[in-house]
Amino acid sequence: MYGLVNKAIEQMVCGAHGPETWEQIKEKAQVDFEGFISNQPYPDEITYRLVAAASETLGAPADEILRAFGEHWVLHTALESYGPMMRATGKTLREFLQKLPHLHTRVELIYPDLKPPQFSCHDVSDNEMDLHYWTTRAPGLEPFVEGLLYGLGKMFSTPVRVELRQHREEGHDQSVFRVSWDAAA
Ligand code: HEM
Repeated sequence: MYGLVNKAIEQMVCGAHGPETWEQIKEKAQVDFEGFISNQPYPDEITYRLVAAASETLGAPADEILRAFGEHWVLHTALESYGPMMRATGKTLREFLQKLPHLHTRVELIYPDLKPPQFSCHDVSDNEMDLHYWTTRAPGLEPFVEGLLYGLGKMFSTPVRVELRQHREEGHDQSVFRVSWDAAA
């Protein structure tokens, strides 16, 4: 994945636990880069190793780290560095999710070697949508998507509930999330 992703993990860990903890995580993950370059692709394995080492060092399940990272990605990385692109994607949570399938097409203009996830989104009712997610990557990223969805809920002041209704690890080619929010929101 592009260095931007590993840099965002570094930023999240350093912000919450300080640079010494980040150094311990890098050592455990056997990653000895002195700072990642945002627009340079790195092997996916590095990102997965950093998450596993963060889980061990912080004594938290990897899924929890990925969920926190998803929220951090939306509320810090994406909004602070790509605010106009995020805001142009939708004015409400529903509109944003409807347009999500096209967001990484725009991101590809900045990062041409991107291997983007694929999404499709369907209305279930006035306050529920199903988000379908495809990826070519190694298993385990669903909690990251959950965290992204919680982050989007916060971005739009529309707190969401997320339920994983179909999991790629159970033999499907895609995972499906039911996203719901209070009808009044
Ligand atoms: C402007 C905002 C965004 C930017 C710049 C961005 C950029 C990226 C980048 C660089 C990667 C790594 C992929 C690679 O290097 O090949 C990535 C992965 C990913 N992005 Fe985004 N992204 C943005 C917003 C979002 C949002 C709002 C979601 C919400 C669901 C999302 C979902 C994902 C997922 C799930 C992955 C993991 C890759 C995979 O599943 O295969 N991104 N994105």
